[in-house]
Amino acid sequence: MQIHRFPYLGFVIKDQGIGINEADIPYLYERFYRGDKSRDRKTGGIGIGLSIVKALVDAHDGEIKIESEINIGTTVTIWFPKV
Ligand SMILES: Nc1ncnc2c1ncn2[C@@H]1O[C@H](COP(=O)(O)OP(=O)(O)OP(=O)(O)O)[C@@H](O)[C@H]1O
Ligand SMILES: [Mg+2]
Repeated sequence: MQIHRFPYLGFVIKDQGIGINEADIPYLYERFYRGDKSRDRKTGGIGIGLSIVKALVDAHDGEIKIESEINIGTTVTIWFPKV
């Protein structure tokens, strides 16, 4: 019997949070980029989380996709090639 192996290993992180403006999505991987500054101050982040994630994904030749709807939530999907 042949064991079928998918060429990618992936996972999905999903929340039901405030969502991200579509206009912000292209910039989320930039260091120190934060969406709506006044609102985000409460959360205390400095805007490096996703830049680190993107650097790690790139280092492993992976792919990342972020989809979001305001006040519905955000879905982050990451794939790594299986070698
Ligand atoms: N799950 C999410 N829901 C809503 N907005 C998000 C989410 N993840 C990221 N964002 C938006 O993307 C911006 C960049 O995210 P990133 O993780 O790089 O930085 P941060 O969360 O602000 O700070 P840090 O990760 O350094 O604590 C955030 O400031 C926020 O506007
Ligand atoms: Mg973060």
